[in-house]
Amino acid sequence: MSVDQLISQETIAQAAAVLAAGQLVAFPTETVYGLGADAENPAAVAAIYAAKGRPQDHPVIVHLAPGADLAHWAAEIPDEAHALAAAFWPGPLTLIVKRAANIPAAVSGGQDTVGLRCPAHPVAIALLQAFKGGQGGIAAPSANKFGHVSPTLAQHVRDEFGADGSVAMVIDGGPSQVGIESTIVDLSRLATHGPVLLRPGQISADAIEAVIGQRPRSADAAAPRASGTLESHYAPHTPVAMQDGAELAVTLAQLSQSGHKVALIHLSDFPAVHASLRLPADPDGFAYSLYAALRDMDGRGADVILVEAPPRDAAWLGVNDRLRRAAHGSHGIVHGLLNRTIPAA
Ligand code: TXA
Ligand code: MG
Repeated sequence: MSVDQLISQETIAQAAAVLAAGQLVAFPTETVYGLGADAENPAAVAAIYAAKGRPQDHPVIVHLAPGADLAHWAAEIPDEAHALAAAFWPGPLTLIVKRAANIPAAVSGGQDTVGLRCPAHPVAIALLQAFKGGQGGIAAPSANKFGHVSPTLAQHVRDEFGADGSVAMVIDGGPSQVGIESTIVDLSRLATHGPVLLRPGQISADAIEAVIGQRPRSADAAAPRASGTLESHYAPHTPVAMQDGAELAVTLAQLSQSGHKVALIHLSDFPAVHASLRLPADPDGFAYSLYAALRDMDGRGADVILVEAPPRDAAWLGVNDRLRRAAHGSHGIVHGLLNRTIPAA
Protein backbone atom coordinates (compact mmCIF):
# COMPACT_ATOMS: atom_id res chain seq x y z
CA MET A 1 0.00 0.00 0.00
CA SER A 2 1.35 3.46 -0.84
CA VAL A 3 1.33 6.37 1.58
CA ASP A 4 -1.17 8.30 -0.51
CA GLN A 5 -3.74 5.56 -0.07
CA LEU A 6 -3.27 5.77 3.69
CA ILE A 7 -2.67 9.40 4.49
CA SER A 8 -2.22 12.74 2.72
CA GLN A 9 1.15 14.38 2.16
CA GLU A 10 -0.27 17.45 3.97
CA THR A 11 -0.82 15.35 7.08
CA ILE A 12 2.75 14.04 6.88
CA ALA A 13 4.14 17.57 6.47
CA GLN A 14 2.03 18.80 9.39
CA ALA A 15 3.23 15.94 11.60
CA ALA A 16 6.86 16.65 10.70
CA ALA A 17 6.32 20.30 11.68
CA VAL A 18 4.69 19.33 14.99
CA LEU A 19 7.70 17.11 15.78
CA ALA A 20 10.13 19.89 14.82
CA ALA A 21 8.24 22.18 17.24
CA GLY A 22 9.05 19.77 20.07
CA GLN A 23 5.61 18.18 20.43
CA LEU A 24 4.57 14.52 20.42
CA VAL A 25 3.16 12.69 17.40
CA ALA A 26 1.86 9.12 17.57
CA PHE A 27 2.46 7.29 14.30
CA PRO A 28 2.00 3.80 12.88
CA THR A 29 4.86 1.37 12.45
CA GLU A 30 4.66 -2.20 11.16
CA THR A 31 5.13 -3.55 14.70
CA VAL A 32 3.04 -1.27 16.96
CA TYR A 33 2.20 2.45 17.08
CA GLY A 34 5.01 4.69 18.37
CA LEU A 35 4.84 7.85 20.49
CA GLY A 36 7.32 10.05 18.65
CA ALA A 37 9.44 13.07 19.54
CA ASP A 38 12.51 14.76 18.04
CA ALA A 39 15.32 12.50 19.31
CA GLU A 40 17.74 15.44 19.42
CA ASN A 41 15.47 17.64 21.54
CA PRO A 42 15.85 16.59 25.21
CA ALA A 43 12.71 18.50 26.29
CA ALA A 44 10.64 16.73 23.64
CA VAL A 45 12.05 13.35 24.71
CA ALA A 46 11.24 14.23 28.33
CA ALA A 47 7.63 14.85 27.25
CA ILE A 48 7.44 11.20 26.06
CA TYR A 49 8.44 9.97 29.50
CA ALA A 50 5.93 12.28 31.18
CA ALA A 51 3.08 11.21 28.86
CA LYS A 52 3.80 7.50 29.33
CA GLY A 53 4.52 7.68 33.05
CA ARG A 54 7.76 5.91 32.23
CA PRO A 55 10.82 5.97 34.51
CA GLN A 56 13.50 8.41 33.24
CA ASP A 57 16.22 5.78 33.09
CA HIS A 58 14.50 3.65 30.44
CA PRO A 59 15.97 4.19 26.97
CA VAL A 60 13.80 4.75 23.88
CA ILE A 61 14.41 3.60 20.30
CA VAL A 62 15.48 6.17 17.71
CA HIS A 63 13.71 5.63 14.39
CA LEU A 64 15.59 6.56 11.22
CA ALA A 65 14.70 7.01 7.54
CA PRO A 66 16.00 4.41 5.07
CA GLY A 67 19.59 5.22 4.17
CA ALA A 68 20.11 7.49 7.21
CA ASP A 69 23.70 8.22 8.22
CA LEU A 70 24.32 5.82 11.12
CA ALA A 71 27.58 7.61 11.96
CA HIS A 72 25.53 10.60 13.15
CA TRP A 73 23.93 8.42 15.84
CA ALA A 74 26.48 5.76 16.69
CA ALA A 75 30.02 6.13 18.03
CA GLU A 76 30.96 2.71 16.68
CA ILE A 77 29.20 0.82 13.92
CA PRO A 78 30.38 -2.78 13.88
CA ASP A 79 30.25 -4.75 10.61
CA GLU A 80 27.46 -6.82 12.17
CA ALA A 81 25.30 -3.69 12.44
CA HIS A 82 25.83 -2.82 8.78
CA ALA A 83 25.06 -6.42 7.78
CA LEU A 84 21.87 -6.66 9.86
CA ALA A 85 20.66 -3.23 8.71
CA ALA A 86 21.25 -4.23 5.08
CA ALA A 87 19.38 -7.51 5.59
CA PHE A 88 16.40 -6.38 7.70
CA TRP A 89 15.85 -2.61 7.38
CA PRO A 90 13.34 -1.24 6.83
CA GLY A 91 11.87 -3.78 9.22
CA PRO A 92 11.15 -4.95 12.77
CA LEU A 93 14.72 -5.05 14.08
CA THR A 94 16.33 -2.67 16.62
CA LEU A 95 20.10 -2.54 16.94
CA ILE A 96 21.76 -1.38 20.17
CA VAL A 97 25.13 0.27 19.49
CA LYS A 98 27.41 2.77 21.27
CA ARG A 99 25.82 6.24 21.23
CA ALA A 100 27.56 9.11 19.41
CA ALA A 101 28.77 11.89 21.74
CA ASN A 102 26.53 14.54 20.13
CA ILE A 103 23.30 12.56 20.74
CA PRO A 104 21.50 13.58 23.94
CA ALA A 105 21.78 11.03 26.76
CA ALA A 106 18.02 11.50 27.32
CA VAL A 107 17.14 9.05 24.51
CA SER A 108 19.07 6.26 26.17
CA GLY A 109 18.10 6.91 29.75
CA GLY A 110 21.68 8.00 30.46
CA GLN A 111 23.28 4.80 29.08
CA ASP A 112 26.17 5.09 26.61
CA THR A 113 24.29 3.16 23.94
CA VAL A 114 21.47 3.98 21.54
CA GLY A 115 18.76 1.81 19.99
CA LEU A 116 18.31 2.36 16.24
CA ARG A 117 15.58 1.09 13.96
CA CYS A 118 14.35 1.86 10.46
CA PRO A 119 10.64 0.93 10.45
CA ALA A 120 8.93 -0.55 7.38
CA HIS A 121 5.49 1.09 7.58
CA PRO A 122 5.03 3.43 4.56
CA VAL A 123 3.58 6.20 6.78
CA ALA A 124 6.50 5.95 9.23
CA ILE A 125 8.96 6.11 6.34
CA ALA A 126 7.19 9.12 4.81
CA LEU A 127 7.21 10.90 8.19
CA LEU A 128 10.92 10.14 8.73
CA GLN A 129 11.73 11.41 5.25
CA ALA A 130 9.75 14.62 5.81
CA PHE A 131 11.16 15.30 9.30
CA LYS A 132 14.36 17.41 9.05
CA GLY A 133 14.70 16.36 5.41
CA GLY A 134 15.26 12.72 6.34
CA GLN A 135 18.27 13.56 8.54
CA GLY A 136 16.42 13.58 11.86
CA GLY A 137 15.64 10.77 14.25
CA ILE A 138 12.27 10.15 15.89
CA ALA A 139 12.57 8.79 19.40
CA ALA A 140 9.56 6.56 19.95
CA PRO A 141 8.54 3.97 22.48
CA SER A 142 5.28 2.11 21.98
CA ALA A 143 2.39 4.60 22.33
CA ASN A 144 0.90 3.21 25.55
CA LYS A 145 1.08 4.08 29.23
CA PHE A 146 4.05 2.44 30.95
CA GLY A 147 3.52 -1.30 31.46
CA HIS A 148 0.24 -1.43 29.52
CA VAL A 149 -0.57 -3.29 26.29
CA SER A 150 1.07 -1.82 23.16
CA PRO A 151 -1.25 -0.22 20.56
CA THR A 152 -1.74 -1.74 17.10
CA LEU A 153 -4.49 0.68 16.01
CA ALA A 154 -4.76 4.48 16.11
CA GLN A 155 -7.86 4.01 18.27
CA HIS A 156 -5.76 2.19 20.88
CA VAL A 157 -3.52 5.28 21.07
CA ARG A 158 -6.53 7.56 21.47
CA ASP A 159 -7.82 5.26 24.20
CA GLU A 160 -4.48 5.62 26.04
CA PHE A 161 -3.86 9.36 25.65
CA GLY A 162 -7.00 10.89 24.16
CA ALA A 163 -8.17 12.73 27.23
CA ASP A 164 -4.91 14.09 28.64
CA GLY A 165 -3.77 16.40 25.81
CA SER A 166 -0.16 15.19 26.00
CA VAL A 167 -0.10 13.93 22.40
CA ALA A 168 -0.46 16.70 19.79
CA MET A 169 -1.33 14.43 16.87
CA VAL A 170 -2.22 10.78 16.17
CA ILE A 171 -1.64 9.60 12.60
CA ASP A 172 -3.95 6.75 11.60
CA GLY A 173 -2.17 4.31 9.28
CA GLY A 174 -4.44 1.32 9.84
CA PRO A 175 -3.57 -1.82 11.80
CA SER A 176 0.11 -2.61 12.48
CA GLN A 177 0.90 -5.68 10.39
CA VAL A 178 3.44 -7.44 12.64
CA GLY A 179 1.57 -6.77 15.90
CA ILE A 180 4.39 -7.29 18.42
CA GLU A 181 7.41 -5.06 19.01
CA SER A 182 10.69 -5.29 17.11
CA THR A 183 13.40 -7.83 17.86
CA ILE A 184 16.18 -6.07 19.83
CA VAL A 185 19.80 -7.14 19.39
CA ASP A 186 22.58 -5.64 21.49
CA LEU A 187 25.75 -5.13 19.43
CA SER A 188 27.33 -2.71 21.90
CA ARG A 189 29.44 -5.34 23.70
CA LEU A 190 30.45 -7.60 20.80
CA ALA A 191 34.06 -8.02 21.85
CA THR A 192 33.19 -9.31 25.31
CA HIS A 193 29.67 -10.75 24.99
CA GLY A 194 28.94 -11.26 21.27
CA PRO A 195 25.48 -10.32 19.99
CA VAL A 196 22.73 -10.52 22.64
CA LEU A 197 18.99 -10.90 22.03
CA LEU A 198 17.33 -8.39 24.39
CA ARG A 199 13.78 -8.90 23.12
CA PRO A 200 12.49 -11.62 20.76
CA GLY A 201 10.29 -10.57 17.84
CA GLN A 202 9.36 -11.53 14.31
CA ILE A 203 13.01 -11.54 13.19
CA SER A 204 14.32 -14.71 14.80
CA ALA A 205 17.69 -15.65 16.28
CA ASP A 206 18.05 -18.08 13.34
CA ALA A 207 17.56 -15.28 10.83
CA ILE A 208 20.12 -13.12 12.63
CA GLU A 209 22.62 -15.97 12.80
CA ALA A 210 22.17 -16.58 9.08
CA VAL A 211 23.35 -13.02 8.39
CA ILE A 212 26.20 -12.52 10.89
CA GLY A 213 27.29 -16.11 11.44
CA GLN A 214 26.87 -15.81 15.19
CA ARG A 215 23.83 -16.80 17.19
CA PRO A 216 22.65 -14.04 19.54
CA ARG A 217 22.69 -15.22 23.13
CA SER A 218 19.94 -14.46 25.63
CA ALA A 219 20.30 -11.43 27.87
CA ASP A 220 22.64 -11.64 30.87
CA ALA A 221 22.50 -9.58 34.05
CA ALA A 222 24.93 -6.96 32.67
CA ALA A 223 22.98 -6.49 29.42
CA PRO A 224 21.71 -2.97 28.71
CA ARG A 225 18.41 -2.34 30.44
CA ALA A 226 15.28 -2.68 28.35
CA SER A 227 11.87 -1.92 29.83
CA GLY A 228 10.23 -4.41 27.48
CA THR A 229 12.32 -6.99 29.29
CA LEU A 230 10.77 -6.21 32.68
CA GLU A 231 8.95 -9.22 34.04
CA SER A 232 5.64 -7.41 34.19
CA HIS A 233 4.87 -5.61 30.94
CA TYR A 234 2.36 -5.55 28.10
CA ALA A 235 -0.35 -6.18 30.71
CA PRO A 236 -4.11 -5.52 30.57
CA HIS A 237 -5.90 -4.36 33.74
CA THR A 238 -7.77 -7.68 34.08
CA PRO A 239 -5.50 -10.47 35.38
CA VAL A 240 -4.20 -12.80 32.67
CA ALA A 241 -3.50 -16.52 33.06
CA MET A 242 -2.11 -18.87 30.45
CA GLN A 243 -2.85 -22.61 30.40
CA ASP A 244 -2.43 -25.55 28.02
CA GLY A 245 -5.60 -26.68 26.25
CA ALA A 246 -6.37 -29.73 28.44
CA GLU A 247 -5.87 -27.85 31.72
CA LEU A 248 -7.82 -24.92 30.35
CA ALA A 249 -10.89 -27.04 29.59
CA VAL A 250 -11.04 -28.12 33.25
CA THR A 251 -10.46 -24.57 34.52
CA LEU A 252 -13.24 -23.17 32.30
CA ALA A 253 -15.71 -25.70 33.64
CA GLN A 254 -14.72 -24.98 37.25
CA LEU A 255 -14.84 -21.21 36.85
CA SER A 256 -18.23 -21.26 35.18
CA GLN A 257 -19.57 -23.55 37.90
CA SER A 258 -18.35 -21.17 40.59
CA GLY A 259 -20.01 -18.21 38.82
CA HIS A 260 -16.93 -16.41 37.51
CA LYS A 261 -16.75 -14.51 34.25
CA VAL A 262 -13.99 -15.62 31.88
CA ALA A 263 -12.69 -13.83 28.80
CA LEU A 264 -11.00 -16.46 26.66
CA ILE A 265 -8.30 -16.08 23.99
CA HIS A 266 -7.87 -19.42 22.29
CA LEU A 267 -6.51 -21.35 19.31
CA SER A 268 -8.52 -24.59 19.45
CA ASP A 269 -12.19 -25.47 20.05
CA PHE A 270 -13.80 -24.54 23.38
CA PRO A 271 -17.39 -24.21 24.57
CA ALA A 272 -18.77 -20.65 24.77
CA VAL A 273 -17.88 -18.56 27.83
CA HIS A 274 -18.63 -14.95 28.95
CA ALA A 275 -16.47 -13.57 26.10
CA SER A 276 -14.03 -15.20 23.74
CA LEU A 277 -11.84 -14.64 20.72
CA ARG A 278 -10.28 -17.35 18.61
CA LEU A 279 -6.94 -16.29 17.13
CA PRO A 280 -5.12 -17.77 14.13
CA ALA A 281 -3.04 -20.81 15.07
CA ASP A 282 0.09 -19.56 13.28
CA PRO A 283 2.66 -17.30 15.00
CA ASP A 284 2.39 -14.35 12.60
CA GLY A 285 -1.41 -14.38 12.56
CA PHE A 286 -1.53 -14.73 16.34
CA ALA A 287 0.98 -11.87 16.85
CA TYR A 288 -1.01 -9.65 14.48
CA SER A 289 -4.18 -10.11 16.58
CA LEU A 290 -2.76 -10.45 20.09
CA TYR A 291 -2.73 -6.90 21.48
CA ALA A 292 -6.13 -5.96 20.04
CA ALA A 293 -7.47 -9.20 21.53
CA LEU A 294 -6.04 -8.42 24.98
CA ARG A 295 -7.53 -4.91 24.85
CA ASP A 296 -10.89 -6.23 23.69
CA MET A 297 -11.05 -8.95 26.36
CA ASP A 298 -9.87 -6.42 28.97
CA GLY A 299 -13.01 -4.38 28.33
CA ARG A 300 -15.52 -7.19 28.93
CA GLY A 301 -15.80 -6.98 32.71
CA ALA A 302 -14.37 -10.48 33.15
CA ASP A 303 -12.72 -11.72 36.36
CA VAL A 304 -9.84 -13.17 34.40
CA ILE A 305 -8.50 -13.34 30.85
CA LEU A 306 -7.55 -16.94 30.14
CA VAL A 307 -5.20 -17.59 27.24
CA GLU A 308 -4.68 -20.99 25.67
CA ALA A 309 -0.90 -21.43 25.65
CA PRO A 310 0.50 -21.48 22.11
CA PRO A 311 3.10 -24.10 21.08
CA ARG A 312 6.51 -23.62 22.68
CA ASP A 313 8.72 -23.87 19.59
CA ALA A 314 11.08 -21.15 18.34
CA ALA A 315 8.60 -19.65 15.87
CA TRP A 316 6.36 -18.71 18.82
CA LEU A 317 9.15 -17.18 20.96
CA GLY A 318 8.08 -13.53 20.53
CA VAL A 319 4.41 -14.29 21.20
CA ASN A 320 5.16 -16.47 24.23
CA ASP A 321 7.47 -13.78 25.64
CA ARG A 322 4.70 -11.14 25.47
CA LEU A 323 2.06 -13.52 26.91
CA ARG A 324 4.30 -14.53 29.79
CA ARG A 325 4.87 -10.86 30.69
CA ALA A 326 1.16 -10.02 30.35
CA ALA A 327 0.41 -12.85 32.78
CA HIS A 328 3.18 -11.98 35.24
CA GLY A 329 1.80 -10.82 38.56
CA SER A 330 -1.40 -12.82 38.05
CA HIS A 331 0.16 -15.93 39.50
CA GLY A 332 -2.40 -17.94 41.45
CA ILE A 333 -5.31 -15.92 40.07
CA VAL A 334 -7.29 -18.98 38.90
CA HIS A 335 -6.73 -20.75 42.20
CA GLY A 336 -7.80 -17.61 44.07
CA LEU A 337 -11.01 -17.31 42.05
CA LEU A 338 -11.90 -20.96 42.61
CA ASN A 339 -11.67 -20.38 46.35
CA ARG A 340 -14.21 -17.57 46.09
CA THR A 341 -17.46 -18.96 44.76
CA ILE A 342 -19.85 -16.24 43.63
CA PRO A 343 -23.25 -16.95 45.26
CA ALA A 344 -26.06 -17.41 42.73
CA ALA A 345 -28.30 -14.30 42.62
O1 TXA B 1 8.70 -2.22 17.56
C1 TXA B 1 9.18 -1.43 18.35
O2 TXA B 1 10.33 -1.52 18.76
C2 TXA B 1 8.28 -0.28 18.82
C3 TXA B 1 7.99 0.63 17.63
C4 TXA B 1 7.25 1.88 18.02
O3 TXA B 1 9.18 0.93 16.96
N1 TXA B 1 8.90 0.44 19.88
C5 TXA B 1 9.00 -0.07 21.12
O4 TXA B 1 9.54 0.83 22.02
O5 TXA B 1 8.65 -1.17 21.43
P1 TXA B 1 9.51 0.60 23.58
O6 TXA B 1 10.18 1.79 24.17
O7 TXA B 1 8.14 0.33 24.04
O8 TXA B 1 10.46 -0.60 23.75
C6 TXA B 1 11.78 -0.41 23.32
C7 TXA B 1 12.68 -1.25 24.08
C8 TXA B 1 12.63 -0.93 25.54
O9 TXA B 1 12.62 -2.16 26.24
C9 TXA B 1 13.90 -0.15 25.75
O10 TXA B 1 14.36 -0.26 27.07
C10 TXA B 1 14.83 -0.80 24.74
O11 TXA B 1 14.01 -0.98 23.64
N2 TXA B 1 15.92 0.06 24.36
C11 TXA B 1 15.90 1.20 23.66
N3 TXA B 1 17.12 1.74 23.60
C12 TXA B 1 17.94 0.93 24.29
C13 TXA B 1 19.32 0.95 24.64
N4 TXA B 1 20.12 1.94 24.28
N5 TXA B 1 19.79 -0.06 25.37
C14 TXA B 1 18.99 -1.08 25.76
N6 TXA B 1 17.69 -1.14 25.49
C15 TXA B 1 17.17 -0.16 24.77
MG1 MG C 1 6.66 -0.55 25.03
